[in-house]
Amino acid sequence: MSCILVRQILTGLSLLRDRVMTSATLLLHSRFTIDKVDPRIFGGFLEHMGRAVYEGVYEPESKHSDNEGIRTDVAASLDRLKMTAMRYPGGNFASGYHWLDGVGPKDQRRTVRELALQSIETNQFGTDDYIHLCRKLGWTPMLTVNLGTGTPEEARNWVEYCNCPSGTLYSNMRAGGGNPEPYDVKLWCLGNEMDGPWQLGHVPAKDYAIRAQQAAKLMKDADKSIELVACGSCSIGISTYMVWDLEVLDYLGDAADYISLHRYVDNRADDTLNYLGVTNSIDRQIEDMDAVCRFVQAKRKKDKRAYLCFDEWNVWYKNMEMDGAGKPAPHLIEEVYNLEDALVVAGFLNSFVRHADSVKIANIAQIVNVIAPILTRGDEHLLQSIFYPFEMMSKRREGVALQVSLESESYESKSNGHVTYADTSAILDGKRLHVFVTNRHLDETLRFTVNPADFSIQSVESAEVLTGPGPKASNSYEEPEVVKSIPFTGATVKGGMLNCELPPLSFLAVTVAIA
Ligand code: AHR
Repeated sequence: MSCILVRQILTGLSLLRDRVMTSATLLLHSRFTIDKVDPRIFGGFLEHMGRAVYEGVYEPESKHSDNEGIRTDVAASLDRLKMTAMRYPGGNFASGYHWLDGVGPKDQRRTVRELALQSIETNQFGTDDYIHLCRKLGWTPMLTVNLGTGTPEEARNWVEYCNCPSGTLYSNMRAGGGNPEPYDVKLWCLGNEMDGPWQLGHVPAKDYAIRAQQAAKLMKDADKSIELVACGSCSIGISTYMVWDLEVLDYLGDAADYISLHRYVDNRADDTLNYLGVTNSIDRQIEDMDAVCRFVQAKRKKDKRAYLCFDEWNVWYKNMEMDGAGKPAPHLIEEVYNLEDALVVAGFLNSFVRHADSVKIANIAQIVNVIAPILTRGDEHLLQSIFYPFEMMSKRREGVALQVSLESESYESKSNGHVTYADTSAILDGKRLHVFVTNRHLDETLRFTVNPADFSIQSVESAEVLTGPGPKASNSYEEPEVVKSIPFTGATVKGGMLNCELPPLSFLAVTVAIA
């Protein structure tokens, strides 16, 4: 067979493939709202783990660093993500961390053996450095106190250091370090994953609840205005799932403003369709936890309920290196992300928007090097595939989430039930509508229509699509732009409706003007 003939057959096959389509229609009504989207669902997580802080955001030796040691190149990329609440300093790290080690003159700070990850912690980056970084990037500070090896009083003293006007022991320490004005840290987490046996100071729910209540009282006495996140279940697979949450919320009562959820998902089975359907299970996790919060509210006969703080979430399974081997800034869990991972990240965010009435805070874990959208290598840095869905949605987060009524073709997945090929969410912002849609189909184009009931779509203001050459495609220093978002020109408006044709395995974010 001649080369020309082979090429003709292949072209014919690909045309045929392009013509095969799946379809979905999204029905919307401007009054069928869920709730205002809390901007804090676009939060991040910066842990003293691996190279997240050192060689990540902070590296005084780098040619990119500013006078405070912050990597300006990394900061510029993080700035594109417009992150909100930034959880710090852990994670597992928090359960062995003594915040006093990280304040005061840098040359007098102690280098210590880090207990959760067996690393060396130099304490060159601490509370003041973190707050300065939050200010540079417009992040809302969110601190996790040590309820593992620490005491409720130590937690309370940190609140004084951060939030009280100078004039007393700990607030004077802050002021003495050149920071006279209080930091006004509103969000505080009462420990981390205290239900997990790996956690430093792990205890049963009853004991954690007592410890957390004592800390909450002392902390709120130092600053009444703070909001507290109680430790919820660290995974859906743990034997105390939901039972822990119920007991903790019931005991803490009004002291708990939020309960935490954590979730790391994987494609160990190498089944892309099933993996992309994990969004069903994320929806379910949120709805289960919401039910517990409502149950406790009803049982206590209170107006106040706890809301959901999804303060660790991401894809994580390819790199499980957690042993710091007695080194400072070791390479730990530096996961490389591909296209299918990016679509799952979009799925998490879609789910948070669809549950805007219960999920008020969420933090992608993490932000640099450690299971992160950004990797560094010397003075270089790389944007991973998962950077893009976060950026595409974060910049379109203003407004009220709309109920999504979706008519879509679907498939039966191995462990995530019945899954629609389209995964969607929508945010209404005055005379603008933001729509997000993933095409989960492995090889068919998605013909996608937005059909509003009581308004009409006038024009497309902006649209970007994320896709790549295949589910396992990823970016590397050699080929940094294999999976990235690009402007999308395939969206058209006709008769007040939006029509798009999305390539297989892609994610679209579109903003339209409405009337
Ligand atoms: O994000 C990495 C680790 O995962 C965190 O330290 C811990 O809280 C979780 O188990």
